[in-house]
Amino acid sequence: MSSQYEVLGKAPGPEDLKNLSSEDIHLTIKNLNAGYGKMEILHNFDLFVSKAQSLCLIGPNGAGKSTILHSIYGFTNIFSGKIEIDGKEITNLTPAEKLKSVGIAYILQDNSVFPDMTVEENLLMGGFIKDKTEESYQEAEKILDKYERLRNRRNQPAKVLSGGERRLLEISRALVMKPSVLLVDEPSIGLEPRYIDMVFEILGDLQKNEKKTIILVEQNAKKGLEFSDIGYVLVSGQTAIAGRGDDLLKNDDVGRLFLGG
Ligand SMILES: Nc1ncnc2c1ncn2[C@@H]1O[C@H](COP(=O)(O)OP(=O)(O)O)[C@@H](O)[C@H]1O
Ligand SMILES: [Mg+2]
Repeated sequence: MSSQYEVLGKAPGPEDLKNLSSEDIHLTIKNLNAGYGKMEILHNFDLFVSKAQSLCLIGPNGAGKSTILHSIYGFTNIFSGKIEIDGKEITNLTPAEKLKSVGIAYILQDNSVFPDMTVEENLLMGGFIKDKTEESYQEAEKILDKYERLRNRRNQPAKVLSGGERRLLEISRALVMKPSVLLVDEPSIGLEPRYIDMVFEILGDLQKNEKKTIILVEQNAKKGLEFSDIGYVLVSGQTAIAGRGDDLLKNDDVGRLFLGG
């Protein structure tokens, strides 16, 4: 079966999209119509991603990429359709329930770090929703063990961190809740190139070694597709092209439209 599709001509259907995942589908979006207020942004949108797979959404500004993450997390109006995790419907859970009971974390960025709180306090903020703070302490400790960059500055205010370290803190803070799905919106935005690679290395470690399922939006289409197992090209609230990340990198339409080729 071909993993490439004509832009807008032959949009991939649910079966095509399903074929990009393994049997073990972790998160499913079925025929979703969602938006803000009465305005529909996503039209009959489907998505399938397996456990420990990564899926990247690319596409022009305003296509609805962030709206997909918002819909999974519970920030949009869902008019119809379903979102499931491990086959269990979660469409109408609140963000807090999604974080706490089904393990979906939305990684905030851009000034979401509290500059006057210490690195450690910022990490613990990630567990604010947990009943057992003891568990949050343990998770924060694990994270500090793992990332020397944060460990060295655990008692310093977060404002002393570099841009890359700050992004690392934003990602790690979400990990305190031990999520199984990470929703990451434009992890490379505003970062110097050397930090962009660091952020993708961290995400790669979380996917491979910690078996996190990752759904990310990335305006740097090349980086995003190089990183991801699966890529969807979103145009006007619908998936126009989908394929394995490395196949999309070789796709002429994707190259022309998004890779500056
Ligand atoms: N909070 C919001 N309220 C109303 N409209 C919004 C909101 N966020 C985004 N939109 C609109 O939804 C559409 C899709 O936006 P978005 O998902 O942010 O696109 P992308 O992430 O692909 O650039 C745009 O037309 C945008 O103006
Ligand atoms: Mg966006």
